[in-house]
Amino acid sequence: MEANSAAIKWFSLCIVVLLSLGFQGIQCDVTYDNKALIIDGQRRILFSGSIHYPRSTPQMWGGLIQKAKDGGLDIIDTYVFWNLHEPSPGNYNFEGRYDLVRFVKLVQKAGLYVHLRIGPYICGEWNFGGFPVWLKYVPGISFRTDNEPFKMAMQNFTQKIVQIMKDENLFQSQGGPIILSQIENEYEPEDKAFGSAGHAYMTWAAQMALSMNTGVPWVMCKEFDAPDPLINTCNGFYCDYFSPNKPNKPTMWTEAWTGWFSDFAGPNHQRPVEDLAFAVARFLQKGGSFVNYYMYHGGTNFGRTSGGPFITTSYDYDAPIDEYGLIRQPKYGHLKDLHKAIKSCEKALLNADPTVENLGAYKQAHVFSSNSGDCAAFLVNYHPNGTGKLTFNNMHYSLPPWSISILPDCKNVVFNTAQVGVQTSQVQMLPTATGLSWETFSEDVLSVDEDKITTVPGLLEQINVTRDTTDYLWYTTGLTIRSYESFLHQGNLLNLTVDSAGHALHVFVNGELSGSAHGSRKSKRFTFTVPVKLHAGRNRISLQSIAVGLPNIGTHFENWKAGIERVTLHGLDKGEKDLTWNKWSYKVGLKGEDMNLGSPDSVPSVEWMKRTTSAQSPPLTWHRAYFDEPKGEDPLALDMGSMGKGQVWINGNSIGRYWTVKATGDCNACRYNATFRETKCQFGCGQPTQRWYHVPRSWLKPTKNLLVVFEEIGGDSSQISLVKKISHKSPPHLVKVHFD
Ligand SMILES: *[C@@H]1O[C@H](CO)[C@@H](O)[C@H](O)[C@H]1NC(C)=O
Ligand SMILES: *[C@@H]1O[C@H](CO)[C@@H](O)[C@H](O)[C@H]1NC(C)=O
Ligand SMILES: *[C@@H]1O[C@H](CO)[C@@H](O)[C@H](O)[C@H]1NC(C)=O
Ligand SMILES: *[C@@H]1O[C@H](CO)[C@@H](O)[C@H](O)[C@H]1NC(C)=O
Ligand SMILES: *[C@@H]1O[C@H](CO)[C@@H](O)[C@H](O)[C@H]1NC(C)=O
Repeated sequence: MEANSAAIKWFSLCIVVLLSLGFQGIQCDVTYDNKALIIDGQRRILFSGSIHYPRSTPQMWGGLIQKAKDGGLDIIDTYVFWNLHEPSPGNYNFEGRYDLVRFVKLVQKAGLYVHLRIGPYICGEWNFGGFPVWLKYVPGISFRTDNEPFKMAMQNFTQKIVQIMKDENLFQSQGGPIILSQIENEYEPEDKAFGSAGHAYMTWAAQMALSMNTGVPWVMCKEFDAPDPLINTCNGFYCDYFSPNKPNKPTMWTEAWTGWFSDFAGPNHQRPVEDLAFAVARFLQKGGSFVNYYMYHGGTNFGRTSGGPFITTSYDYDAPIDEYGLIRQPKYGHLKDLHKAIKSCEKALLNADPTVENLGAYKQAHVFSSNSGDCAAFLVNYHPNGTGKLTFNNMHYSLPPWSISILPDCKNVVFNTAQVGVQTSQVQMLPTATGLSWETFSEDVLSVDEDKITTVPGLLEQINVTRDTTDYLWYTTGLTIRSYESFLHQGNLLNLTVDSAGHALHVFVNGELSGSAHGSRKSKRFTFTVPVKLHAGRNRISLQSIAVGLPNIGTHFENWKAGIERVTLHGLDKGEKDLTWNKWSYKVGLKGEDMNLGSPDSVPSVEWMKRTTSAQSPPLTWHRAYFDEPKGEDPLALDMGSMGKGQVWINGNSIGRYWTVKATGDCNACRYNATFRETKCQFGCGQPTQRWYHVPRSWLKPTKNLLVVFEEIGGDSSQISLVKKISHKSPPHLVKVHFD
């Protein structure tokens, strides 16, 4: 399609707004054609980046958005987080980190557009995929399929968000920054699994979204059947294989994965920028016109917001802006250079279809030559090892392996994806506050069933009992051992075997920790056998079951269980004893949680004990200390390397779950010149998956900040330190000063 027909279309979809006050401006619907999104009557090549507002703080938003703009982005993309906004049915929260309108307006102020991915299923390695836990307990509900209670709730929330945006005039059709919205998210696997009910639901979701009349297009990512006029879009490490499901739709990439998330006990992941730039150039040379980096800033899963189970508190993602808001080089700078090179080709890319010339094995030229005389070319060397020597338009070019050169005038190379002209940044974690003065408070295991909530025969499903108000559920039972049992006289231990649906477990017998176990993100279930010391007479078995983030992905993930399902004892004279149908008493959460110990406003009667030794604390210990804010602007983190597993609060704000479990993985060499998968380029094997935990500056006051740690297993709090994260270019320059 030629540009002038787009202009005609534009004219018909714009409204000149004349109010009584006078001329107000032109408001246009955002539309599209086969080439691109059309904004203000113009086709556009658009670069976008995902920045999720609750994964940083309002004080950080402005800086992150500005860095995104400076990095050559046009759009900020965010999900909308239903479980933050509607904590109980009909009660909404849009305050602080959840202030979506403020976030969208900051993007607008910076002169960028917004892609609002409402979902409301968002996956996102976020607790329960973004669904509030109460939704699971709506009678008759079944998630993400042709189910009336689910569809009602989904429509309600979508309507709520759209109405808020309309009331604030935030859609582009109203003069606002939102040019695009998403309904559902990566539905294709469910569409297949649910058959006709899935298809009916997906079709309903599309119609429901369209009925909201936002004046901007809707996308469904990873849903090949997305009904017209919704645009189906691609998510992945590469998307050059992708074409939309109708020839009149533009080719869009809603998630170009810049790295990958981590889960506790797994490695960290990095994606070389040479390969990321190569992937983006491959997409554009095929005719793609929209690329969103997922993530551009990953940020932090504060509190208990991470999904999984076992997604780490850090959601750094190896993104161009790191978890702390610092620019990550060379990733950020190399992509910025790429964006500049592509923008200098924009007219040719938008006005011509590419012709592909094969220039020998592994070598191609993609040429965009328009009637109006614009010409841009992409020269490709797909060879993973060999330099690509090729001749194009009678000129000779030499390309590194696995790379694309960009020629905005079909002659001169301005950029090659494998040649990085940006210095690498080096980061350091510099201790600032150490040797804090600690006090402790013990979470008494034996007193647990004095404030039991229920005693029932059998083992209850964990989430049904806690409703996810806490990670912790105590299962406690009594057991009488006759004095004639042989094991007592032989000095033997018995084995206790616990079958758990997930996610982690500490076994206490008569108040002492016997052992701990956990599942993994892939197999949440585990069976744990632990030797236990029982004495003649009455014994108490206390099992602390721990949820480590609710699942965020998988067909009917809402039905996945957590908690203890079977308990047996081995080694008694009569053989195996099944305790499953014993009377069990239940206690939701910790005493310290009931007393709000993480908060400065906690119950004052708690007797904190001065900590005098620097030895490992016993299991289930609360630790507290006060510290002053370190000077300067550098971002801060807690070094939790000396601790085991638990949660941290500062001035009552939850920093998140911590766990220093060591990473296992395949930490072999990482090279850019091969097809990337998350199983490649793993780092940090043998080290804690996450040692440092982001402390937002805005949560601090100048003096006397309250730091509270709940440690489940045991750790040495005297070694906890507050560190500054410093980034500088490498190698550090020695600047020589000359005087003439
Ligand atoms: C939808 O919203 C209406 C009005 O706010 C409310 O009465 C109703 O209970 C909601 N339904 C669901 C399923 O959330
Ligand atoms: C790349 O090099 C490796 C050895 O380093 C070789 O096994 C492989 O076949 C080469 N790839 C190609 C496409 O030549
Ligand atoms: C590409 O990969 C091969 C292994 O197949 C490696 O030996 C080579 O050094 C890499 N080339 C570049 C330019 O990095
Ligand atoms: C949740 O617990 C209630 C009793 O408290 C029980 O009736 C119900 O069946 C349980 N639901 C699930 C899904 O386990
Ligand atoms: C306990 O388990 C261990 C390891 O599986 C086994 O060697 C031992 O015999 C068991 N003891 C009893 C009393 O069952």
